[in-house]
Amino acid sequence: MSLTVDTFSFVADLVRRRSAIQLDPGKEYLVESRLLPLARAAGHVDVDAYVRGVRTAPSPGALEVVVEALTTNETSWFRDAQPFAALVEHVVPEVLGVRSTIGAQPLRVWSAACSSGQEPYSIAMALANLVPASQLKIVATDLSEKMLARGRAGRYSQLEVNRGLPAPMLVKHFTRVGHEWEIASHLRSAVSFVQHNLLDSPPAGGPFDIVFLRNVLIYFDLATKREVLRRVQKVLRPGAFLLLGAAETTIGIDEGWERVPVGRGSVYRLTARRAA
Ligand SMILES: C[S@@+](CC[C@H](N)C(=O)[O-])C[C@H]1O[C@@H](n2cnc3c(N)ncnc32)[C@H](O)[C@@H]1O
Repeated sequence: MSLTVDTFSFVADLVRRRSAIQLDPGKEYLVESRLLPLARAAGHVDVDAYVRGVRTAPSPGALEVVVEALTTNETSWFRDAQPFAALVEHVVPEVLGVRSTIGAQPLRVWSAACSSGQEPYSIAMALANLVPASQLKIVATDLSEKMLARGRAGRYSQLEVNRGLPAPMLVKHFTRVGHEWEIASHLRSAVSFVQHNLLDSPPAGGPFDIVFLRNVLIYFDLATKREVLRRVQKVLRPGAFLLLGAAETTIGIDEGWERVPVGRGSVYRLTARRAA
């Protein structure tokens, strides 16, 4: 391991300020392994030399590249299954029941920290038989431009489609293009991919009925989790739902949400007190 304490603390501080991702001491291996390919591509012998270059004479976008490299973009289709069952069986019927105006107002979903697009496209596929395509607007956001570009392209390798995509969904919604699978254009047009940092004000496209904010709060400290959850509340319709990752909760962080048990899991609903 060649990383100096100074290099690690510079990178950890940069990543925390720009993304809120916490890189605690002990994560030196992560910094080393994620930055080494960038160091080599830029002609440096090691990560220390690369980071020194970035610090002293940063080229445009160089700091963003370092931050992006330290994001974890792990995702899959219908990840954890349960939230998507809850979406179809409980959340959308509730929202549509409350809003009989759905004919005039599209169902607006925010897939925050969407990585390479499997989450928003899973939402679109899950709702294909429930909401007419013209009535579904999904805003999919992430910090990483690289991930957003993948989502916009809507093309996935065999290895990627093998991760959670049921065969009937593959047959129904994808076309084979060379070695890849391309998602159907009517699903693609329901999703807009927009760059957004969860530390900033929420993106345009709201107010939202449903927010997926899954497997990202785990990287943040308590104060940031609270701040992000409060910011999300500001762009929700009254009675809107929030779906978190399996290891995440609002409990003990922000009391503006009611936990609603659904099946073997839970979803969260904006309490009337906090609704806009
Ligand atoms: C582990 S993935 C989760 C993807 C998807 N939500 C899921 O559950 O499968 C976490 C994503 O959060 C994004 N991310 C990390 N920090 C962020 C921030 N401050 N603002 C927006 N996105 C962020 C990363 O780029 C990454 O794509």
